[in-house]
Amino acid sequence: MRIENTRSIEHLGSVKIHGVRRILELDSGARAVTHLEEHLDTQTIGQDSIETIEQRMAIVLSIKNEDLKAFEGVLTGVPHNCLIIVISNSRTGEIDAYRSEQDILSRFCSSTKRQALIVHQKDPVLAQALKHVNYTEILDDKGLVRNGKSEGMLIGILLAKLHEKDYVGFIDTDNYIPGAVWEYVKHFAIGFILAKSPYAMVRVLWRYKPKFFGELYFKKWGRVSEITNKFINHFISTQGKFESEIIKTANAGEHAMSMKLAERLTYASGYGIETQELISILEQFGGILPVKKKTVTDRGIDIFQTETINPHLHEERGEEHLMQEMLLPSLSIIYNSPICESSTKQRIFDQLVEQKCLKPDEEVPVVRLIPPPQQVDMHRFAQHLEPQLPIYSVPKGEILQRKLVATEGKKVVFTDLEGTLLHPLTRSYTQALDALRLLQSKGIAIIFCSAKTRSEQQVYREELDVKGPFIVENGGAIFIPKDYFRFPFTYDKATDDYFVIELGIPYQEIRQRLKRINEEINGHIVGFGDMSVEDVARETALNLKSAELVKQREYSEIIRITGDKKSIGITLNSIKNSGLSYTSNGKFYEILERDGKSKAVQILTALFKLNYSESTTVGIGDDESDLPMLAAVDLPILVQGQSRRWKKVKVKNILRVKGVGPEGWNNAIKEFATK
Ligand code: GDD
Repeated sequence: MRIENTRSIEHLGSVKIHGVRRILELDSGARAVTHLEEHLDTQTIGQDSIETIEQRMAIVLSIKNEDLKAFEGVLTGVPHNCLIIVISNSRTGEIDAYRSEQDILSRFCSSTKRQALIVHQKDPVLAQALKHVNYTEILDDKGLVRNGKSEGMLIGILLAKLHEKDYVGFIDTDNYIPGAVWEYVKHFAIGFILAKSPYAMVRVLWRYKPKFFGELYFKKWGRVSEITNKFINHFISTQGKFESEIIKTANAGEHAMSMKLAERLTYASGYGIETQELISILEQFGGILPVKKKTVTDRGIDIFQTETINPHLHEERGEEHLMQEMLLPSLSIIYNSPICESSTKQRIFDQLVEQKCLKPDEEVPVVRLIPPPQQVDMHRFAQHLEPQLPIYSVPKGEILQRKLVATEGKKVVFTDLEGTLLHPLTRSYTQALDALRLLQSKGIAIIFCSAKTRSEQQVYREELDVKGPFIVENGGAIFIPKDYFRFPFTYDKATDDYFVIELGIPYQEIRQRLKRINEEINGHIVGFGDMSVEDVARETALNLKSAELVKQREYSEIIRITGDKKSIGITLNSIKNSGLSYTSNGKFYEILERDGKSKAVQILTALFKLNYSESTTVGIGDDESDLPMLAAVDLPILVQGQSRRWKKVKVKNILRVKGVGPEGWNNAIKEFATK
């Protein structure tokens, strides 16, 4: 596909709102025809990258008594690689619309060789599972999930998460143009490809919404959207000195989010949900209220808006629905937000009175909010839903990939990064990609165990789509994604995404000890904490971004010691005497309390055993520094160093594989680890 290049971007705190970008070409041709230079104003997104995202995306289709032909058309428009999740609140009983929807989905899946899920919103087992995990704000007085499209969407988010999808998109099922549905999903994928942050949202603006006034008329804006956009933009304008018109999609029913973002937002009941999503982002990350989630604000939030080529033709619901069920909640959400200032409030009130949604003496109603899905303990939810999942699955009984409830034995691969998965010279992992994908397809856990910091490892985890726990700074700590293991375990602290088991002492304490030593012996220790990003980049030959990440240390410090051999020896002795240990690569010394890699591998092995009854561990390294990890696994493997020779590492039963770094890694996995 070909899309217009970056338009204006509005920044609010760590939120980046991208101006609407138009799709220029639905199909931009074969990859081979790229000898013509891309125009500066355009960007081509290849089909391969789009498909990769689609494989990681669930499309949630909410449905309530829609025309069944329209529903069938919508199904045909969802690209093959996406997981379809239908959440229905349709009639059951004598004239059973839900049964018809199940039949249609089942026929569709069987003829197209796809798998999908379909759930009725009022399913009592679903409600029980939600009650079990204390997500009760979504339940009504009868203990069932409330009516509402937004409640349906939330169930969709939870099921997408349960099936380990990284992205979740929403499409209404009253859409009469399957080609438009197909296009929406492509837009979603493009947005996620372009996003710099893992916290991303894509909101689709329909180019035209045809109406029939005697003859077909291609109308540009929906009235509710027009009004809601106006007030969100007014609010954004009050946050700076420049008037803004950036938001064009305040009510975008067709939109998608990365799971990382979706699980953090607070949702509104009913049709105000899309406006509330924007408001929730601005409340949490817009820099107006104090920031609670630093991990998110560090990466920023990307909100993309794209304009479609296909028109949007759907069921019209009438004036009452538009005003009372859409405009009133949308504006009430903005009005009642703690970030909404008085001038926007006053204008909203006047507008609601003018539209006859409110009487002048009435108060703006408060819309019911549903807390972030992140608070749901996914293991308990999965356990509770387990007997029901074969019934939700289409074809029936076929359970989709669900590692969260898996109990069978598991293979775990612990791997060093530098010189092992990453080439010692080029730092590239390309040669290992085949084997890495093989492990992922078999559901084998890949655990990074390296000297790199959390921030450095995060980059590779995202690039390679490696999930699961990881060991940072030579065993300084283990980071375990919150929903990874089903049984509870003891940890030292929790961040937004992880439970952290800390084995080393904090960075600041190491820095203080080093400072004391420096003062006592009049030494010449200079740590990364004393150096600027530019200095670190210069001294390590890293680029500025990598230097910034290497400086984000939590459990170890890297120092250089100036002076002659003797004074360096004295400094190192003092470091040892202070209870710290060090390793060296020549120029720099890495200082930490003790190498915790062996302990970290043992702890994780025990957790895997507990959760998967049995587990076999493999360890891959390239040198002596990996010995603690290699000695703690069932199958230790050594790859070759830069000179095509194996370094001396004394570990019982170690396997030496041919190939430098990632090439050896590839061989190791293919020959041994997956057998
Ligand atoms: N599961 C479930 N449960 N689905 C529901 C429910 C419910 O209680 N109520 C409605 N739906 C489904 C409908 O079947 C449809 O597919 C979709 O949700 C949207 O509902 P509509 O009633 O068709 O909404 P609309 O067309 O007025 O508004 C849509 O577009 C607006 C933007 O113009 C919605 O997506 C709005 O949220 C959006 O703001």
